[in-house]
Amino acid sequence: MAVVRTLQVLLLSCLAILIIPTHGFLNATENAKALVIANDRLYASVNKSTGIMDTLTLDGQNLLGTKEYNEVTPGGNAAGQNGIGPYLDCYCVPSGSYTPGKYATFKLYSGSDSTGVKYGGVVMSEVYPLTGQVLEQYWFLRETETGLHTFSRLAYHNETKPFLRNLQEFRTLFRPTTPLWTHLSTNERINAPLPSSDTLKYSRTVQDATWYIGNYTKAPYVEHFADYFTKYTFSDEWRDHRVHGIYGDGSQSKDGSTFGAWLVMNTVDTYFGGPTHSDLTVDGIVYNYISSNHHGDNVPNITTGFDRTFGPQYFHFNKGTNTTSLAELRAEAEEFASPTWNTAFYDSIAHLVPNYIPSTQRSTWKGRIDLPKGAKRPIAVLAQNGVDFQDNVLDTKAYQYWGDIDKKGNIEIPMVKPGAYRLTIYADGIFGQYIQDDLVIAVGKVTTTKAKWREESAGKELWRIGTPDRSSGEYRHGDQPDPSKPLHPPEYRIYWANWDFPTDYPDGVTFEVGKSDESKDFNYVHWSVFGGYANSVRPEPYYENVNNWTVLFDAKKNDLKKAKDATLTIQLAGAKTAAGNTDNWNATQLWNNLPLTVVMNGIELEPWDIPWNQSSSCATRSAVVCYALAHKYEFDANLLKQGQNKIILSLPFNATDYESAVLPRSTYVQYDSLRLEVK
Ligand SMILES: *[C@@H]1O[C@H](CO)[C@@H](O)[C@H](O)[C@H]1NC(C)=O
Ligand SMILES: *[C@@H]1O[C@H](CO)[C@@H](O)[C@H](O)[C@H]1NC(C)=O
Ligand SMILES: *[C@@H]1O[C@H](CO)[C@@H](O)[C@H](O)[C@H]1NC(C)=O
Ligand SMILES: *[C@@H]1O[C@H](CO)[C@@H](O)[C@H](O)[C@H]1NC(C)=O
Ligand SMILES: *[C@@H]1O[C@H](CO)[C@@H](O)[C@H](O)[C@H]1NC(C)=O
Ligand SMILES: *[C@@H]1O[C@H](CO)[C@@H](O)[C@H](O)[C@H]1NC(C)=O
Ligand SMILES: *[C@@H]1O[C@H](CO)[C@@H](O)[C@H](O)[C@H]1NC(C)=O
Ligand SMILES: *[C@@H]1O[C@H](CO)[C@@H](O)[C@H](O)[C@H]1NC(C)=O
Ligand SMILES: *[C@@H]1O[C@H](CO)[C@@H](O)[C@H](O)[C@H]1NC(C)=O
Ligand SMILES: *[C@@H]1O[C@H](CO)[C@@H](O)[C@H](O)[C@H]1NC(C)=O
Repeated sequence: MAVVRTLQVLLLSCLAILIIPTHGFLNATENAKALVIANDRLYASVNKSTGIMDTLTLDGQNLLGTKEYNEVTPGGNAAGQNGIGPYLDCYCVPSGSYTPGKYATFKLYSGSDSTGVKYGGVVMSEVYPLTGQVLEQYWFLRETETGLHTFSRLAYHNETKPFLRNLQEFRTLFRPTTPLWTHLSTNERINAPLPSSDTLKYSRTVQDATWYIGNYTKAPYVEHFADYFTKYTFSDEWRDHRVHGIYGDGSQSKDGSTFGAWLVMNTVDTYFGGPTHSDLTVDGIVYNYISSNHHGDNVPNITTGFDRTFGPQYFHFNKGTNTTSLAELRAEAEEFASPTWNTAFYDSIAHLVPNYIPSTQRSTWKGRIDLPKGAKRPIAVLAQNGVDFQDNVLDTKAYQYWGDIDKKGNIEIPMVKPGAYRLTIYADGIFGQYIQDDLVIAVGKVTTTKAKWREESAGKELWRIGTPDRSSGEYRHGDQPDPSKPLHPPEYRIYWANWDFPTDYPDGVTFEVGKSDESKDFNYVHWSVFGGYANSVRPEPYYENVNNWTVLFDAKKNDLKKAKDATLTIQLAGAKTAAGNTDNWNATQLWNNLPLTVVMNGIELEPWDIPWNQSSSCATRSAVVCYALAHKYEFDANLLKQGQNKIILSLPFNATDYESAVLPRSTYVQYDSLRLEVK
């Protein structure tokens, strides 16, 4: 099958053949209607009446499409508009969504960087008339590359109206309308044929932006990947994310060549939410999601004095022969995913980009970390001082960095903006995390931090369920590959209602520590109620044995000897209260704060009210890593007994909320891991 062939991960021994040299010129030109930056392979034009890039060709191939091709790109497109992008849009003006450009002024730049390579640049700058907020988009092209370096800026200064609104969404999009593109690619593992727009047009919407297309049995997407299509399926966490994009297998190009359009996350320091932030990547549109709360992370407020430039990110376009695979074109783009890539160029244009900090004013941080035994995949995060990195939107001047810690406990992060940071260290397999505030990164010298981290402890561990890794992926329908489709996507990525809780657990969840299997006997979501609104498979609500889960465990006499205090730790990978993903307190709603109650051998422990301002939208938007939360239930060890003990994990019965979009009304939690200790 052509599809399978193109998706094969080939050994990349001869990448060099893909790189067709460009020679020697860069045009940056302007007329009454448009601004153009072009080299001998890539041609990009920004329309002055819209402020949007609306022509983009690589070796003469139109990458965006024409007005004549009226099909709707999955995810939607303005009717009759030809393909556009990369361009800026936002949900950031008082009325909501907005695409700047209509009121813009433009600048055209050209020059040579310090390595002698010519570059051209276009800046779209708009003062939004109703509020005075400044919205800017920057595109740069170098003579030797076939991609666009992009920055986006938002500034707001108004003392008479100091609070404007939240920055609910800020993003750049490459939004084609052309049959050229045949496949999408989230990461190395998640690649799929793009469903045709016809398939989506005539299909049933089962949830917000989610379609059932399983009756198109011959569509390559359905045959190989899933029966449902949604933009959420292709979201990803930023921790290991490098590149995402779309691929054209050559069947629709002018000369049979293959093409790729990629968003390269070469820098992550101007995004928010740290390494666990996840967002949309590609669904026919190639996104650069800069700020959003799809999975429940916070977004910053726009208050007077706000002035932040996001980027650089790099939109890379490439071309291969008629047999070049998706994996090969992707791998070429991935080579650029480093914050030290193109430093000389970025330094050379720093004076043209407000707020951009050149490398000479950045420093390297080194860590020497004494890790707890058994720490897997350890990571260090530098982010806003004094707050959880998940909330690093509170200071809009703060930047963020992270990196893997190696086996010896060493880590090095380059290109850090000077300032005071919180250092956070966590690892798979270890409860809790290490936190150190007021870590100062100075200019012009390497800062080295030595830290000793030990796993948190409340005595002797009797048992644990799951792996502390900020994910509910190890449970049923989490990371497990879907056996029914040849590309075996992880099940959590598929529309959640496909995994029918009453069918899996007709008698509810009962988990016996030491005997049960986490990947079968513990579900990836604990619902309050299953079915009903936004569940097309089970449109009637189902209540029996849903909201109470049972955990059984044996305790030995020895375990309990001299034990006075017991601690049950519950770490969650995400929780949805009535406050939803936007953390919106709605006074008409009962469950803005959601109690998760633990009943230990018949005695109810003091409940944990999961707070409204830490609510996510997680499993229902195809995710297993959202806003992480933890709580310790401390109780008298006398509640434990020798032999079998019984815990009920209980959400309130039928705890639903109002949903403005077609999304399930049930509240729910997603467990990361649980642990019982005594001392
Ligand atoms: C670049 O500019 C030169 C001189 O104006 C022109 O001849 C050439 O066609 C331009 N090339 C592109 C790709 O715009
Ligand atoms: C610019 O956009 C306007 C509005 O969509 C369109 O009418 C016009 O043809 C475009 N100009 C160019 C040069 O493509
Ligand atoms: C500041 O906000 C006030 C109130 O919305 C508005 O009337 C005024 O025009 C704004 N100032 C600027 C410079 O945009
Ligand atoms: C699939 O079902 C939809 C209705 O949900 C229908 O419009 C469409 O024609 C069906 N397609 C095929 C190929 O059966
Ligand atoms: C944004 O402002 C609102 C209203 O003042 C406040 O409740 C909220 O906590 C602020 N959020 C952030 C992230 O600063
Ligand atoms: C690919 O290109 C080669 C050489 O141009 C040609 O011989 C071959 O038939 C093409 N294959 C396909 C599948 O188009
Ligand atoms: C609050 O909930 C009510 C339904 O009880 C709904 O009508 C209203 O729109 C909600 N308000 C907001 C701000 O979402
Ligand atoms: C949530 O709100 C409480 C007060 O209700 C506050 O103490 C806490 O800092 C807030 N947390 C976040 C993450 O905003
Ligand atoms: C479990 O759920 C039922 C129905 O929601 C409720 O009445 C009961 O108190 C819950 N707790 C236990 C320990 O069974
Ligand atoms: C569950 O809650 C919904 C919404 O509040 C309500 O319409 C429904 O009647 C409730 N079901 C039961 C069995 O209480």
